[in-house]
Amino acid sequence: MKFFIDTANLEQIKEAQDLGVLDGVTTNPSLMAKEGISGDENVINHYKAICAIVDGDVSAEVISTNYEEMITEGEALAKLDDKIVVKVPMIKDGIKAIKYFSKKGIKTNCTLVFSAGQALLAAKAGATYVSPFIGRLDDISTDGLGLIEEIRLIYDNYSFPTQILAASVRNSAHILGCAKIGADVMTGPLSAITALLKHPLTDSGLATFLADHAKAAGK
Ligand code: E4P
Repeated sequence: MKFFIDTANLEQIKEAQDLGVLDGVTTNPSLMAKEGISGDENVINHYKAICAIVDGDVSAEVISTNYEEMITEGEALAKLDDKIVVKVPMIKDGIKAIKYFSKKGIKTNCTLVFSAGQALLAAKAGATYVSPFIGRLDDISTDGLGLIEEIRLIYDNYSFPTQILAASVRNSAHILGCAKIGADVMTGPLSAITALLKHPLTDSGLATFLADHAKAAGK
C-alpha cells in the first residue's frame, strides 16, 4: 500500500519524506489556505516546492467547476511537473474532465467521493485515483472503511486500473483497516503515519534492553 501525506505543510512533507516511507502528497484548497498560500503565483510556486521534496505523485486540485475551465486549469497544473496529478471534484463536469485528461495521458484524482456509485463512475471515466473520504463518512456515523470494501470489490470484479486512494484518514486504525481491505493508497496526516510506530511494549522493552546493557557494562 502506498502512503501519501495529506498536507500542504512543507516541513511535515520533508519529515515524512525523510522517514523513507512516503510515496506522494495530496493537497486541497483548504489545506493550501491553512498554510496561508493564496494567489495563482504563490499556489503554483508551492506545488513546485512540494514536487521538489517528494519522489511520488502530488495531487493539485482545480478550483474551477465547469468543464472548459477545469481543462484549462488542469492542463496548466499538469505542465508544472510530471509528478502532478490533477485533482477533480466528483461532479458532472468533473467526470467529463477526467475522461478528457485520461485520453490526454494526464493523471487524475477524483476527489470528494462518498459512494460506491461515484467511485464506479470515476473508474469508468478513467481516473488514475479515486478518493473516498472515510473520516468524513465516519463523522456522520457512516462506515467509511465499509465504502473502501465496496469499491475494492467492484474494481476487482472488472479489473478497473483506477487506484483506490483512501482519503480523509484520521488515525492509524484507519490506515490498518485500509491495508487489510487492500486499498492501493492511503492519504492522511503525519500524526496518523507516525502513530504506527507506537506500542507501549516497544517502549518498555527498549528501556529494559538499554538498562540491562548499561548494568552489564558497569555504568
Ligand atoms: C483528500 O485528498 C483530502 O485532501 C483529504 O483527505 C480530506 O481530509 P479531511 O476530511 O481530513 O479534510
